[in-house]
Amino acid sequence: MDAAPLAFRPARRIANIGVSEILKIGARAAQLKREGRPVIVLGAGEPDFDTPDNVKDAAIAAIKAGQTKYTTLDGTVEMKAAIVAKFERENGLSYAPNEITVGAGAKQVIHNALMATLDEGDEVVIAAPFWTSYADMVIIAGGVPVPVVGREENGFRLNAADLERAITPRTRWLMLNSPSNPSGAAYTAADLRPILDVLLRHPHVWLMSDEIYEHLCYGNFVCTSPVKVEPALRDRTLIVNGVSKSYAMTGWRVGYGAGPQPLIAAMAVVQSQSTTNPSSISQAAAIEALNGPQEVLQERRASFERRRNLVVNALNAVPGLTCRKPEGAFYTFASCAGVIGRKTASGQVLESDADFCRYLLEEHDVAVVPGSIFGLAPYFRISYATAEAELRTAMTRIAKAVEALS
Ligand SMILES: Cc1ncc(COP(=O)(O)O)c(C=O)c1O
Repeated sequence: MDAAPLAFRPARRIANIGVSEILKIGARAAQLKREGRPVIVLGAGEPDFDTPDNVKDAAIAAIKAGQTKYTTLDGTVEMKAAIVAKFERENGLSYAPNEITVGAGAKQVIHNALMATLDEGDEVVIAAPFWTSYADMVIIAGGVPVPVVGREENGFRLNAADLERAITPRTRWLMLNSPSNPSGAAYTAADLRPILDVLLRHPHVWLMSDEIYEHLCYGNFVCTSPVKVEPALRDRTLIVNGVSKSYAMTGWRVGYGAGPQPLIAAMAVVQSQSTTNPSSISQAAAIEALNGPQEVLQERRASFERRRNLVVNALNAVPGLTCRKPEGAFYTFASCAGVIGRKTASGQVLESDADFCRYLLEEHDVAVVPGSIFGLAPYFRISYATAEAELRTAMTRIAKAVEALS
């Protein structure tokens, strides 16, 4: 007699991890759109711009030239050379090619680093509010995420004393992201100094510096890499970066890292048993993005800055909402504390930021993401990587939605 099939049982390491809440909100928004609702989605962390033409042409040329085979494991010689040159040119940092790794997106680079370094129960301090994937990736790698919240009063930046209190003998990494998803907060050299001093006092803690939004800093704000501020940390820092956000190349899947050679070599072991190399064609495109004309960065930054100002001003004009002006990235992280406890026209009391976001989507056709999933409530994140006209409509809807509360 055949044995009855056992019910599917996921591995313990993913048992408590769901599909990203942002993807779920996106799916619900898409469903409402299919039903004919004019939903505006301000959820995705993706530039609305297209990949520049010179980059697309480089990919087409690579296909035609037969660059369609496996490449060197963690990046072609030319790709690594372009990344070395980028760090020299833009960051004043010197890396050898064997200190560079290239993966299928910054996400894979982070995943490789965590898989290559964490043992079961190792702790990773994460500056919160944080990109939700950080914590899930730590858990998948067997680690324990330890969020440390940067309060709004401190510009959502990590406080050095809080960091020091969170460090234990099991801490392996501090994950820091400037400019930040979701808060848009960025760190000057002076902001970084006390944090880096803490790390100097705890030599067993490594720094993962996610600089993927570095080109999106507004006004006179200058984004600085922690390694530039404190060169003594170079030998235990992994800089994470990529072409997804700067060059509107999210679908191409190319990210890179720079760090000490033994770490980079261990990360290559992980990648060699998952995806092998990043796409040969995408690497050819990314080389052109890094080596080709850079004017596009300026133009797009100017456009993002106008949108940031539009959204911040509109939100602050709504009684009950307040929004700090972020220094960078393409997100605002506004407080909705003033609407919690208020009642919708249909009689529902808004008890959390998640309730508020659900209300905005279900009754006012605007999809935004609750701060609670990024580790800080009651806030909501808006991604303003959307056309200005659409942003204006969305802001009008949010104002009306709040006005309708009693
Ligand atoms: C802070 C941060 N790091 C990394 C990534 C991943 O980028 P990639 O497309 O290169 O995997 C994202 C994407 O949303 C992000 O917000």
